[in-house]
Amino acid sequence: MPELDLPQRQSPDSLMLTGFWYRALAADRVHRNQLYKATLLEIPLVIGRDRLGQPFALRDSCPHRGMPLNCGRFDGENLECGYHGWQFDVHDGQCQLIPSLTADQNLKVDRIYAGSYACEEQDSFVWVFIPDPAPPGAGFALRGEAPEPSPQIEKFSSKYKSAYLQAEMPVSIDHGIIGLMDPAHGPFVHQAWWWRAQHSIHEKKKNFEPIPNGFRMSAHTPSSNSAPYKLLRLYADADSITTTIDFVLPNIRSETIRAGKYWFSSLTTVTPIARNRCRIDVVAAWNLFRWVPFVPDLLKFFFAKFVEQDRHTMELQAEGLKHNPHLMLIDDADRPAKWYFQLKAAHLEAKRTGAEMKHPMPGPVTLKWRS
Ligand code: FES
Ligand SMILES: [Fe+2]
Repeated sequence: MPELDLPQRQSPDSLMLTGFWYRALAADRVHRNQLYKATLLEIPLVIGRDRLGQPFALRDSCPHRGMPLNCGRFDGENLECGYHGWQFDVHDGQCQLIPSLTADQNLKVDRIYAGSYACEEQDSFVWVFIPDPAPPGAGFALRGEAPEPSPQIEKFSSKYKSAYLQAEMPVSIDHGIIGLMDPAHGPFVHQAWWWRAQHSIHEKKKNFEPIPNGFRMSAHTPSSNSAPYKLLRLYADADSITTTIDFVLPNIRSETIRAGKYWFSSLTTVTPIARNRCRIDVVAAWNLFRWVPFVPDLLKFFFAKFVEQDRHTMELQAEGLKHNPHLMLIDDADRPAKWYFQLKAAHLEAKRTGAEMKHPMPGPVTLKWRS
């Protein structure tokens, strides 16, 4: 492979991948016996919790005449459409009652279903599984189960703290994701005295390896020019701090930092809401500084600053993207972005042909950039 590829024109296609779990709403904002609106991949959803606290997700559209179900009445078990009062079980969408039927009309009510989605609560979020588009005839079919449970944050002890942050951005899922994995924007977007100064920009070399559906920045000792890491090394009294960063389709970046018995994990997702809108959700869990007052708040403050800087940058970028400019990705700094597009293409190709997915990375790769 040449040292420097020609600049590559790449216009993100903003295709949203089905067949995966997505974070829908922060769990602490979804209360029992209440209904909430959410949108994932341009699909309108109504989300809630039954009276036992179990979350559910339905398509926000009545199978009768399309009335949004979030306008209906919910008793903690069944949801009643506000137009003609059809009632649906919130967990599988099965119709329970059609009030207009007379005693001698034998329409099989239980063969009718409102669109329903597998739904789980995991690490501070309500997740919804968005399946591949159903074959025609949906409306009379029970939904399938998700093939695997929703993604989890890796945790290394039973006691830990956690927190989450969210930011919505007016860009496509692709720009959201490549912005997240982009190593070169740090010195320009995330300047702050407590993190690092712009003049500390220096050459970096990181090893990457393929993993199923994604790639990993192999365990490495983090950049010595950032204050929090210096602090952590001192605190943990560990001679080595290692961090591992994984990206896996469709939208998950997970990071693990370990220093002796201390650890910090985060699972960040970029969720496609619509073609030109995505939301970043960062959930972190950690056992360091657990008993030191204010530190969790400080951590959250720093994280919030970071996310806000990214959000603000993408909001500005969205202005430039309105006119559909030609874009380019360069080596090596944008190589992770190229892998993302290649992974996505390989995933879609495998789905189309039914063959096993061909991973775009031939093996471990070392990338170099300045940041
Ligand atoms: S539109 Fe929902 S019951 Fe008629
Ligand atoms: Fe960033």
